[in-house]
Amino acid sequence: MAFSPNYIFLLAFLTIFIGYIKTNNSTSLMSPTSACFLAALSVRRSVYNLSNVLPVGVSQASIQASVEQAVKLSPSPFNIQSARVVILWGTESDRLWDIVWGKVNAVSSFADEEARAASESKVKHFARGAGTILFFEDQADIDKISLGFPAFAPIFPTLSEQSSGILTSNIWTLLSVEGVGANLQHQSVDLIEADVLKTWDLPLSWELKAQLPFGGIAAPPSEPKKTFEGRTRYFGGEVVTESAKL
Ligand SMILES: Cc1cc2nc3c(=O)[nH]c(=O)nc-3n(C[C@H](O)[C@H](O)[C@H](O)COP(=O)(O)O)c2cc1C
Repeated sequence: MAFSPNYIFLLAFLTIFIGYIKTNNSTSLMSPTSACFLAALSVRRSVYNLSNVLPVGVSQASIQASVEQAVKLSPSPFNIQSARVVILWGTESDRLWDIVWGKVNAVSSFADEEARAASESKVKHFARGAGTILFFEDQADIDKISLGFPAFAPIFPTLSEQSSGILTSNIWTLLSVEGVGANLQHQSVDLIEADVLKTWDLPLSWELKAQLPFGGIAAPPSEPKKTFEGRTRYFGGEVVTESAKL
């Protein structure tokens, strides 16, 4: 009996969901929707060992559709929608990492040929996946809103970084729930920006923020230690919960 990719995807997520609620006692306090959302957050990891084969049910079209929705739904300050995203597939992604290596090679001094080769291999490792997503912020939008709201102008660069981070996290998590691995990089973003804009004929007002190489998971990452103890505080408590209406 053949299962459709959608059923396989649903089964995979159900496994993640059950695994997550089994290992987290606090999920008994939550609605299934919250537990589901947190299960999705729990599968987002920095996956460095990527392959160029996407999991069953995932395609270029499905990733592009998911990314488009994340771009649409992610918030931005004053709703300026300054985020821009480029997906480089296959050989286009290779071109990006060639550009990065070109810059790293030009500005670095290596002890010997072995050190140079090790550095090249480290940079080119990011090209092993199916592609790379580039995150930009359109400075034309930031400049426009800064002129409209001069009192906020000094903090718009920070707000722009924050909304770019929110979008990045949303896309990274979306890929993860589909079984696609990814890792977040900021490899020579300042140095490569002009070449990137020229190579893919992008507007000069786009500022490159980050790279997200992604692909199939060739090897899962080890589990990093993560805590919340001492990192959250609560004050007050006179809150009323609406009664259920039957
Ligand atoms: C804003 C931000 C910047 C990051 N930059 C890099 C980076 O440049 N290179 C890298 O390998 N990982 C980077 N990371 C990934 C973190 O190192 C990683 O998320 C963290 O160690 C936790 O591991 P996990 O992603 O597997 O949960 C970044 C993460 C964040 C949130």
